[in-house]
Amino acid sequence: MASDSMEKIVSLCKRRGFVYPGSEIYGGLASTYDFGPLGVELKNNIKKLWWKYFVQDREDMVGLDGGILLSPKIWEASGHVKNFKDALVECKKCHLRFRPDKLKEASKCPECGGQFTDPKSFLGMFKTTIGAIEKEGVEAYLRPETAQAIFADYKNVLDSNNKKIPFGIGQIGKAFRNEVTTGNFIFRTLEFEQMEIEYFISPDADWNKIFENWLEYIYGYADLIGLPRPQFFKHEIPDEERAFYSKRTIDVEYQFPFGQDELWAIAYRTDYDLAAHQAASGQNLEYFDDATKKKFLPHVIEPTFGVERTMLALLANAYREEELENGETRVVLKLKPNVAPYKAAVFPLLANKENLVAKAREIFGELKKDFNCAWDERGNIGKRYRYQDEVGTPFCVTVDFDSLENDDVTVRDRDTMKQERVKIGELKKYLTGKIQ
Ligand code: GAP
Repeated sequence: MASDSMEKIVSLCKRRGFVYPGSEIYGGLASTYDFGPLGVELKNNIKKLWWKYFVQDREDMVGLDGGILLSPKIWEASGHVKNFKDALVECKKCHLRFRPDKLKEASKCPECGGQFTDPKSFLGMFKTTIGAIEKEGVEAYLRPETAQAIFADYKNVLDSNNKKIPFGIGQIGKAFRNEVTTGNFIFRTLEFEQMEIEYFISPDADWNKIFENWLEYIYGYADLIGLPRPQFFKHEIPDEERAFYSKRTIDVEYQFPFGQDELWAIAYRTDYDLAAHQAASGQNLEYFDDATKKKFLPHVIEPTFGVERTMLALLANAYREEELENGETRVVLKLKPNVAPYKAAVFPLLANKENLVAKAREIFGELKKDFNCAWDERGNIGKRYRYQDEVGTPFCVTVDFDSLENDDVTVRDRDTMKQERVKIGELKKYLTGKIQ
């Protein structure tokens, strides 16, 4: 994909209501974004499909919705207060801060050529204060990963459900990081959503095999949402670069328009977190195995996913500019129908013909019960097609004069631009078959 395509995607996202720069009317807030009407639908579809595939379809999985605010003791015990830090240098002239490991030239500021200070460590978690008076309040953190709520609640889940190890807990929710290296649109932001699994296994289990099985299962999700496997790369993270809690990590990288980078990841966190929470809380977090009558602290395999990065990968993969026979160019998002914001758009051929509008409204009302549908009666049919192509709507349904006679409609396919007549009574079945 051409490198200028990032600019085109950013522009389309703003123009068509997928993503807006955060706080724009006040000049913006760097590395924050808002998701517009189309963006929120796309994100919801990513999350819904993830939840079904990873949580509901598996007998060994359950879900959780833990808090964003957790006791600060959790972040002390997990090691984040001590270790979730980046070394930063500051330019003595313009005062911009940089991560030395991300600088092309280590001695000079890339902005103004100034000299750097010695590296200082910088906490990646956002702090906040709980309590009415700041000075007397309790200092807390916005969570930098959803995982810790799962560890903190693991015993509650075990005691309130009849789950046996191996089993996993999945969670989707916001995470916050005071990132210094930001950029590439929604790839790296201060606030984002994670979809995470902590999968609890016996310390005697073949963890590498379970790790590999999960990795393959992750690729099944890529297939499900329509991300092509040849665009993926497995990056085995060497010992010295792995997060402090991990014994093995593979970054599941993706070929983004700006280069290959981490989309998702999988880590073997051992019993690092449960052992740390057991020690710090004084609570026994061991699991009693009925079959062997042994107690043990489970080990953990963690597949983790970013919602916004998944959205960016989907948009980049779907974006096309196609030359038409009449010499015009059409912009089209070839999203798989299951992630597309609208599954179908319904039009009356002419907006000023009451009988066409009434029939189209009737069909729209029926389809809306099962699919998210768009209604459009602006301009001419060609313009409506162009608009729906740009937002990735896979099917456009047009009610014309023949529809009133024959009880059928024209269904136009986004990708082939071919049209066929479908009986109104068959329409729901026709679309359902194509939208899976
Ligand atoms: N619990 C493990 C963990 O948090 P991570 O690799 O630091 O691991 C997991 O983050 C995923 O969250 C990443 O693979 C990425 O998709 C997403 N992610 C991390 N930092 C992000 C950021 N600043 N902006 C957007 N997504 C981010």
